[in-house]
Amino acid sequence: MMPRIKPTLLFFEDEQASAERLADAANLNLARIERHRFPDGEIKLRLPDTLPTRVVILRSLHQPNEKLIELLLTCKTAKVLGAKHLLLVTPYLAYMRQDKAFLSGEAISQKIVGSFLAQLVDAVIAVDPHLHRVKSLQQAIPVAQALAISAAPLLSDVIAAREANPLLIGPDEESLQWVSQAASRHHFDFGVCRKIRLGDHSVQIELPPISVAGRHVVLVDDVASTGQTLASTAQLLLGAGAKSVAVAVTHALFAQDAIQKIQSAGVQYIWSTDSIPHASNVIYLASCLAEAIAKIYGEH
Ligand code: R5P
Repeated sequence: MMPRIKPTLLFFEDEQASAERLADAANLNLARIERHRFPDGEIKLRLPDTLPTRVVILRSLHQPNEKLIELLLTCKTAKVLGAKHLLLVTPYLAYMRQDKAFLSGEAISQKIVGSFLAQLVDAVIAVDPHLHRVKSLQQAIPVAQALAISAAPLLSDVIAAREANPLLIGPDEESLQWVSQAASRHHFDFGVCRKIRLGDHSVQIELPPISVAGRHVVLVDDVASTGQTLASTAQLLLGAGAKSVAVAVTHALFAQDAIQKIQSAGVQYIWSTDSIPHASNVIYLASCLAEAIAKIYGEH
């Protein structure tokens, strides 16, 4: 039998470090997409001259708007250059939170962006995509193969290595799926708050009815954006007598002054995965993503 040609991993310069880790873990050839910005703001991309049948594209979709256009240009060009099967590895998948029209006339971004991506690629891997009313990644992105993996076990391991007998707290009901997974792996105590979002920068949090006094608390969530959710929860926990508060989060969006806000609220440590490059990254996803890639190719 002829050996299968190694897939190529295409990446953009700003994700070089995570692309190198992934290529190494998944045994992929690595090729950078060259990018030129014209003075008027348009972009031009250049891919390698020829591509193998299987191509992986690494693109985390924080600051997503321009990246969606880049993906359009990349995927269409990759097919022209010989790719037959395109696998998008998007550790942070954007636009998943707007999964219904909360007010009449609102765009349902999840559906629109999901079907846009489904027209471009054959398979997709994402890490803890924020799926709420929709249950599977394949419903959000209707492609032949869609695999969602969770960073919760990795968050749990980091917490276990750095905090003795911690209490894990999820800041809202939606975080239950991640907090309960992270807690069960190392038999940590856990609880989940209730949250009402009043606006982009304003939330109302109610702590769970468990004692936090004297405990080393770790807040666990999938996304931190403005940091308001984590900051408000940390303040309440410290007010209720928690000995310390740290944060373990999968996607370190940390918009504007989020880090400052979280630290001012009394949070001592912030640990995140490299789904989004950030100074708080202490967890590398490469080996989990490599396993997921092997699964996709095993099925293909
Ligand atoms: C929402 O349900 C998510 O799980 C996060 O809690 C939320 O996106 C955090 O947003 P922010 O940091 O802006 O409060």
